[in-house]
Amino acid sequence: MKTGVDWVTIRNARHPFYDFCDEALEDIRRQGRYRSFTPLARQAPRYPVYEEEIDPVPGETPEGREVIVWSSNDYLGMGVEPEVCEAAIAAIREHGAGAGGTRNIAGTSPLHKRLEAELAALHGKEAGLLFVSGYVSNQASLQTILTSMPGWICFSDRCNHASMIAGIKGARGSTTVIFEHNDLADLEAKLAAAPIDAPKLIAFESVYSMDGDVSDIAGICALARKYGAMTYLDEVHAVGLYGDEGGGVSQRDGVADQVDIIEGTLAKGFGVHGGYITASAQIVDYLRSSASGFIFTTSLPPSIAAAALASVKLVRAQNWRREKMFERVNEFRRRMRAAGVPFMMTASHIVPVPVGDAELCKKISRRLLDEYGLYATPINYPTVPKGTERLRLTPGPYHTDEMMDQMVTALLRLLTEEGLRPGAEGTAQAA
Ligand SMILES: Cc1ncc(COP(=O)(O)O)c(C=O)c1O
Repeated sequence: MKTGVDWVTIRNARHPFYDFCDEALEDIRRQGRYRSFTPLARQAPRYPVYEEEIDPVPGETPEGREVIVWSSNDYLGMGVEPEVCEAAIAAIREHGAGAGGTRNIAGTSPLHKRLEAELAALHGKEAGLLFVSGYVSNQASLQTILTSMPGWICFSDRCNHASMIAGIKGARGSTTVIFEHNDLADLEAKLAAAPIDAPKLIAFESVYSMDGDVSDIAGICALARKYGAMTYLDEVHAVGLYGDEGGGVSQRDGVADQVDIIEGTLAKGFGVHGGYITASAQIVDYLRSSASGFIFTTSLPPSIAAAALASVKLVRAQNWRREKMFERVNEFRRRMRAAGVPFMMTASHIVPVPVGDAELCKKISRRLLDEYGLYATPINYPTVPKGTERLRLTPGPYHTDEMMDQMVTALLRLLTEEGLRPGAEGTAQAA
């Protein structure tokens, strides 16, 4: 052997990946980025109440304690809506638990077809295509599009979600140009500098979920037209919440018809699970026939499709759900402001509370849970840049005034005790 190491040594040694994992985990811990999950059992009829299971005394029944969750992405509480749950239960009774195959191998039920038609109608597009998650819909669609023809250039917003980046990076042979976040001047300069005849795609989001800021869809579409680019819009944190029927910011702004491909999730505003794209008939047909992440995986269980279909129909028809959520978000901000608790004012429903340090962020989250029975997820690197760690709160229709007062009181005390003096310069944008 070239290295001078013999096979006996190799066979007797631990594979180097084990040591690699130990060292990498140690490094992650040192940086305060070690991820521990808090198991919380949602109590559907009492949402946003969850139960935290306290470690059982051996031989005794495990005890639970109530926790109010402030970080769910089930923004409208559709995942606990009785009609949605009943649709899933009825579909399980009728069709069983799983789909039993890929879409091609007996895994397409009439429910999948109906849901795709409903989603296409929601966004005013010719067709829709379901994926097993929002992540997969982005990754599979972008990778497939950007490897379809030679010479693709993808103009990608700097803050795009990991799933979009995975698809863009996985598209071998295409070129990626990153434009500064929501910066149309930078995007235009980069579009203008690109070869005139290259196929171009602009990939961006409507609501950026960590900062809660919103993109200028009309402006980006105007640039796309000017430079002959296609547009791919992730509306994951906007579907269900914005627009007359919950079609997202593109629907609210009246520009859905200007976007070539609208991608969304069924797991957040619609409260169920799964992802999708909607677009022209030929784009959807091409992805249906070519996207590996669509073709080679078992399709969503019929129960999930049934629940999602019930949810989308309700959300489209009932504006009061959106109104209620925004009323609660505004009320929460009003109470935070009145009490002097710092938060980042955003143009969306998301209320980030800046902390600026990974360890401290985890500590405050833990103290909220231990001392007050409140849960707010700590958001650390790599989800956000180092130094911008935060708690991310998502008030929803089921957060009562009393729950809000509890959270405001707890934050005021904990942020003060941890040296993040409310109102101090640098801790938050003026709200
Ligand atoms: C912007 C964005 N796109 C896509 C996804 C993936 O969606 P899903 O959770 O349905 O996989 C997420 C998940 O949080 C997201 O934030």
